[in-house]
Amino acid sequence: MVLLKVFLVLLCFVISVSTQSQDVFETPKPLWTTFHHPIRRVAVIGAGPAGLQAAAKLIEHNFTVRLFERAPHPGGNWLYSEETPVREPYPDKPLGRTAEIPAQLPATRYFNEGDDGLTLDDRWTEHWQPRPLWASLHINTPKVSTELPDVKYDPDTPWVVSNRAVQRHVRSYASHHCLNSNDHCPATASAPPVTAYSTRVEKVEKDAEGHTWVLTLRRLERLHESNRILAEWWTETFDAVVLATGPYTAPHVPDIDGIVDWSKAMEGEQYSVYHSQVYRHPERYTDKTVLIVGASVSASEIARDLGSFAHRIIASVRPNNDSTGMRQLDLSRFPNITEFVPEIAFFEPLSGHRNGIRSGKIHLINGSILEGIDEVILATGFQGYALFPPNSTTKRPENIHWTGHYIPDPTLAYTFGRPWTLGRYQSYGLAKVWEGSARLPTSEQMKLEEEYWREWLGEAVFRRYITWLNNASLEHGGRFVEPPPIENLEVLKYYMLAYLHNLNTMNLDSIGNFNISMLSGQLGDKDSWAALVDENDDW
Ligand SMILES: Cc1cc2nc3c(=O)[nH]c(=O)nc-3n(C[C@H](O)[C@H](O)[C@H](O)COP(=O)(O)OP(=O)(O)OC[C@H]3O[C@@H](n4cnc5c(N)ncnc54)[C@H](O)[C@@H]3O)c2cc1C
Ligand SMILES: NC(=O)c1ccc[n+]([C@@H]2O[C@H](COP(=O)([O-])OP(=O)(O)OC[C@H]3O[C@@H](n4cnc5c(N)ncnc54)[C@H](OP(=O)(O)O)[C@@H]3O)[C@@H](O)[C@H]2O)c1
Ligand SMILES: *[C@@H]1O[C@H](CO)[C@@H](O)[C@H](O)[C@H]1NC(C)=O
Ligand SMILES: *[C@@H]1O[C@H](CO)[C@@H](O)[C@H](O)[C@H]1NC(C)=O
Ligand SMILES: *[C@@H]1O[C@H](CO)[C@@H](O)[C@H](O)[C@H]1NC(C)=O
Ligand SMILES: *[C@@H]1O[C@H](CO)[C@@H](O)[C@H](O)[C@H]1NC(C)=O
Ligand SMILES: *[C@@H]1O[C@H](CO)[C@@H](O)[C@H](O)[C@H]1NC(C)=O
Ligand SMILES: *[C@@H]1O[C@H](CO)[C@@H](O)[C@H](O)[C@H]1NC(C)=O
Ligand SMILES: *[C@@H]1O[C@H](CO)[C@@H](O)[C@H](O)[C@H]1NC(C)=O
Repeated sequence: MVLLKVFLVLLCFVISVSTQSQDVFETPKPLWTTFHHPIRRVAVIGAGPAGLQAAAKLIEHNFTVRLFERAPHPGGNWLYSEETPVREPYPDKPLGRTAEIPAQLPATRYFNEGDDGLTLDDRWTEHWQPRPLWASLHINTPKVSTELPDVKYDPDTPWVVSNRAVQRHVRSYASHHCLNSNDHCPATASAPPVTAYSTRVEKVEKDAEGHTWVLTLRRLERLHESNRILAEWWTETFDAVVLATGPYTAPHVPDIDGIVDWSKAMEGEQYSVYHSQVYRHPERYTDKTVLIVGASVSASEIARDLGSFAHRIIASVRPNNDSTGMRQLDLSRFPNITEFVPEIAFFEPLSGHRNGIRSGKIHLINGSILEGIDEVILATGFQGYALFPPNSTTKRPENIHWTGHYIPDPTLAYTFGRPWTLGRYQSYGLAKVWEGSARLPTSEQMKLEEEYWREWLGEAVFRRYITWLNNASLEHGGRFVEPPPIENLEVLKYYMLAYLHNLNTMNLDSIGNFNISMLSGQLGDKDSWAALVDENDDW
């Protein structure tokens, strides 16, 4: 649970400094990682909170940066759209890996409505994957821990803001650094633009001979006048690459018998079994019986959104070993009309695909059968895929140093952790390592540290960054960094109490009676922190 650990630091970084042991990391090593040639051209993939910060920092450090983003605008997960992701390939093909790349590059192709059986809308949304946000979604983290540097939220903004406010915030950051989709700030008149929107990175490959990275790119453009889509493929070469593609690349659709049959029940009309990523508004569920699969944040928050519209809300929740109260917290968020049922065993084949699913039978593992369901929403989470190494099926492969560098080849780096709080340190670290004003240990040493960093508490990750970066600046030059501001901790303390109040484990009245360390002791069970931490364990 790296992220919740990262979050933990925000509350407790002021304490227990003295408990840091003199461990293996402090051992001076004469050997450092060196690069084959100086790093000048860097690709950043993804214009979400993480990638934007990496690009801005690398530009500040005079690298020649290219920022690639498959969506038409920056914002990452926070780019709200009424468009929804295309259903095919569905349910289990990682999107973007099935697309054909022409043999000869560069290449250009025009697509018309219906080519290869795809509508232009589907071709377009398959390319950029509209984000899994619904209209009313608000953050489940307080704004102090969901804020980028340089562009503060207005002080009067409430602690819990809408997804639109986060979008504006992230886009403000992009504009501030001349990285928005309508910005153009070339370093020199002849320099290429930094940003490439609507441009999806299809492949990341190492050219062993040139010791460079070759990116295969695909850009789509909607030509509204001629009602076509223009696709362009080409390659670009870089000395280093930042993979900031985010933790949620594709929906997770559980492998339940009959689910595919059901999901095609109303093909050509409106689908009735689909993933939460396409949920936007509650109105179309008015007076319907809705089955929500899952018990986590998407499930409970969509159920709340549906609350006053749906006729019945049924939630299929499977048992969970969580002993920490997180499951309890999620369940407490469902509206009180929710009927909870066990896990689904299988969907009985539908007799006729044109009759919708109302007459279909859903078998539960306890032997009961659900009937009369109008809509099924799979709030079953997401999965991630890394662009490199090829064919990796996890969003973040093994062999990552705590600085994000890929140990076998540290000219590649992954962003991880909460970009809001950790991203500024991580980006600075990438810039310093690649410009030579900070050093990475040898790969053996990095490997050793990899074993450890997963165990570090969030606080330790911040401290590690601060010590490493400032020590490097002392020796090689550069700005000093500071820990997160103490006033954020104060806000977090109150937020935590208010948020967990639901569970009745905290008493708001007692807030003034505890100092931060006592409070963190009270919240000692680290998993309570998952209330505020929204990424999966392995990211
Ligand atoms: C429904 C939902 C609600 C959430 N709510 C919260 C919340 O309340 N608070 C919170 O802190 N976090 C929340 N999150 C987590 C969210 O992931 C982070 O807030 C944050 O957006 C992560 O930033 P990122 O830059 O790492 O990734 P992202 O924001 O996901 O950005 C990654 C970018 O990379 C681009 N990309 C991916 N692959 C390619 C490619 N091959 N080529 C080009 N571009 C590519 C994507 O298009 C995307 O724009 C939520 C996530 C979801 C799904
Ligand atoms: N700001 C917001 O309001 C907001 C809204 C939505 C999402 N988010 C964030 O987005 C991220 C993703 O959240 P998420 O809720 O979409 O996904 P998630 O946290 O991965 O939860 C997926 C849920 O699906 C369940 N599940 C999977 N397969 C199932 C099956 N076959 N039967 C029954 N249940 C099944 C899981 O059960 P198990 O627990 O048993 O595995 C889990 O409860 C999180 O970080 C979350 O914080 C935030
Ligand atoms: C600080 O830098 C010096 C010189 O590179 C190094 O010997 C020392 O180990 C570093 N200390 C820390 C805490 O990183
Ligand atoms: C970037 O280049 C400018 C102009 O040459 C220089 O003034 C600045 O110090 C450089 N920045 C860094 C971080 O090296
Ligand atoms: C839950 O606990 C049971 C018994 O301890 C174990 O068999 C099972 O694998 C656990 N399930 C998960 C998802 O961890
Ligand atoms: C359920 O919640 C609604 C408001 O959301 C409330 O008016 C109603 O009294 C609640 N019912 C029960 C049984 O708690
Ligand atoms: C299965 O679970 C549901 C919901 O808890 C319950 O109503 C039903 O009676 C159960 N069926 C059996 C056969 O136990
Ligand atoms: C990746 O998968 C494809 C298709 O399964 C296969 O042809 C290719 O060799 C794989 N690449 C690597 C590096 O494993
Ligand atoms: C604050 O926390 C520290 C560490 O747990 C504890 O020693 C101290 O007594 C606490 N102070 C107050 C005023 O509660």
